[in-house]
Amino acid sequence: MSEKSFETNLAKSNEVAAEIDKNPGKFRMLTGDRPTGYLHIGHYFGSIMNRVELQNKGVETIVLIADYQVITDRDSTENIQEYVYNMLADYLACGIDPKKTKIFAHSAVPALNQLMLPFLSCVSEAELLRNPTVKTEMKASGHELTGLLLTYPVHQACDILFCKADIVPVGKDQMPHIEQTRLIARRFNNRYGKVFKEPVGILSKAIEVPGLDGRKMSKSYNNAISLRLSADETAKLIKKSQTDSDRNITFDPKKRKGVSALLTTAGLCSGKDPQDIAAEIGDGGGGALKAYTTEAVNSFLAPIREKREKFLADKAQLKAILEEGNAFANEIANETLNEVRKTMGMTY
Ligand code: TRP
Repeated sequence: MSEKSFETNLAKSNEVAAEIDKNPGKFRMLTGDRPTGYLHIGHYFGSIMNRVELQNKGVETIVLIADYQVITDRDSTENIQEYVYNMLADYLACGIDPKKTKIFAHSAVPALNQLMLPFLSCVSEAELLRNPTVKTEMKASGHELTGLLLTYPVHQACDILFCKADIVPVGKDQMPHIEQTRLIARRFNNRYGKVFKEPVGILSKAIEVPGLDGRKMSKSYNNAISLRLSADETAKLIKKSQTDSDRNITFDPKKRKGVSALLTTAGLCSGKDPQDIAAEIGDGGGGALKAYTTEAVNSFLAPIREKREKFLADKAQLKAILEEGNAFANEIANETLNEVRKTMGMTY
């Protein structure tokens, strides 16, 4: 995405964010995650916290477990059940409330998936090949460019447009997909008649949580603190992380990646400023810093972990929540698909 279109998106995002505060009930929000592993504190501070806040403000919230996106860059659906139910338990434990928010899996909504056909006709090969996020993901996964990896941004447009979402909170990397979604909505409306509205991507406040090695926290880098870890496992993981030999703890993300990553993590979990934590630890060294961080993470996660265990133990309840979300999504998707077919003159 060019700098200019990023600026335009940011301006749009800020404008709508201000409107949400004034009139939250006017907006429908859709977001989702790929169930390729377990959620970690990077997801929590990067997106889930924000969703819960919008949900509680009164924005109509729909959360998607994007299971078809798992097979964009891998050849198996191994562990999918485990990841989907754990994701659901994590959402609920973090405050996503099924009384307010619908949670569904897009493989369970046939009409949503059928939108892929008319939508694919609205994009060119060149546009698909130009998407920078697809290129990055292809490189990162080492997978060849499958038909689905190339076209999944169009499928993501189906996720967003089937329910006519107004807003989609996303990180910067997802903005090209929102652009593509807006383009598809525009082209469809111009060709056949107005069915879709153009959604706005809301750039989250960009809390990027560093992983234990100072790189971005990601399950594929093996540097993530998953919500599901026990307090002991968390302590071990933090103990193994790299700090440095300078005993005087200072916050310097450029020069002291490991030390600063721990300070940032401790700061997020305790609600304190990382600089103040550094001053508090002073020349206590890496050991004291790790002990401090472990304590901050574990106290923060303790209530979430307790809740997620309870939710996971009641599989019937989890299934019921997902079924309700799926039924809701199917109802809307059927309506939208009917509208699409009618607009295209394809009802017989
Ligand atoms: N591609 C998104 C990610 O990797 C997940 C996703 C799928 C999504 N469908 C979506 C996000 C629709 C927002 C809206 O994070």
